Amino acid sequence: MRELRAIAVGCGAMSAAWLRAAAQIDGLEIVGLADLDRERAAAKAAELQLDVPVAADAVELIDRLKPDLVFDIVVPEARRDIVLAALRRGCHVLSEKPLADTLDRAKELVAAAKAAGKIHAIIQNRRYFPGTRRARRFAMSGAIGPLTALHCDFFVGPHFGGFREQMDHVLLIDMAIHTFDLARTIAGATPVAVYCQESNPPNSWFKHGGAANAIFEFADGMIFTYRGSWCAEGLRTSWQGAWRLIGTRGTLTWDGEEEFRAERPTDSDELIRKVEPVPIPPLDPADAVGGHAGVMRDFIAALRGGSEPETVSRDNIKSLAMCFAAIESATTGKRTLLDFERP
Ligand SMILES: NC(=O)c1ccc[n+]([C@@H]2O[C@H](COP(=O)([O-])OP(=O)(O)OC[C@H]3O[C@@H](n4cnc5c(N)ncnc54)[C@H](O)[C@@H]3O)[C@@H](O)[C@H]2O)c1
Repeated sequence: MRELRAIAVGCGAMSAAWLRAAAQIDGLEIVGLADLDRERAAAKAAELQLDVPVAADAVELIDRLKPDLVFDIVVPEARRDIVLAALRRGCHVLSEKPLADTLDRAKELVAAAKAAGKIHAIIQNRRYFPGTRRARRFAMSGAIGPLTALHCDFFVGPHFGGFREQMDHVLLIDMAIHTFDLARTIAGATPVAVYCQESNPPNSWFKHGGAANAIFEFADGMIFTYRGSWCAEGLRTSWQGAWRLIGTRGTLTWDGEEEFRAERPTDSDELIRKVEPVPIPPLDPADAVGGHAGVMRDFIAALRGGSEPETVSRDNIKSLAMCFAAIESATTGKRTLLDFERP
């Protein structure tokens, strides 16, 4: 098995998780690190005991080392240029979320990956959590019938400090992509429209958009409601949110981590039907897990001729389109159709 050579671009907060995940993967070698702040790249190499070239100019490093793939861990505003440069130089690219900082740029990157014939996938690490896999398998099993509604409450009050507190639409742009991608994962269906209201509660420590409420319509008629706040303190939900899946024959609740409950009606004829618990199967060994490492493993397997990774950018753009359509709806006050096809 030929060793695949990777360069990591962006050596900030997330990069250690990436580089540790990469170290778990057979046949993958990190051959260089780049960061605008060269000292940061050097410090990351030292921290992780990587004896590799470091550079401030990622493109120059790609030209010099000619890697098979690029790990893009830069801030969203820098993503487009790094991904385009890497694809045009014949590299496959694995990017941090979000795929892009605008929908037009996301479309441009999807088209560029297609034109280059290279794989461009996105880290949607929460898809690769065991709970997500179990919720999806349960929904797909038909144990509570086809889904008619999906509801998610996301109430967490993180005091990050830094750039997030100065952003517009902070919850929808920086966090909701994870929740919306989970909705698509669990439903296995395509979102088509959304109505959304954004607010910034009086106690918010964010400049804009600390809370949002959205109703999505999916192509099969399923409804997904999202109630989210990043400035709700006390009784917090998990980072994955607290979920309720309603099918034609029962209901599942999931706390976003490992706690599941499901019930379905028996054939009693009371006003409120008697219910029975529905067993929730354990994690299926066939399901890929592992967060960042899980996404990375599927990406590397695809490069070696395996099937396309499930977070490939041409599919992931649908989750990003949910975020931008929600923002547009919140801004215009109108129901908004999702747009993820190139015009
Ligand atoms: N998947 C998750 O759970 C998760 C969690 C947090 C952040 N993220 C995402 O990870 C990405 C990185 O976030 P972070 O917290 O590590 O940010 P960060 O600011 O800590 O690090 C980003 C680094 O990229 C470097 N950089 C910027 N432009 C560059 C360029 N053109 N060339 C080379 N280096 C460049 C910066 O100097 C900085 O060191 C973001 O897209 C963010 O949304 C994902």
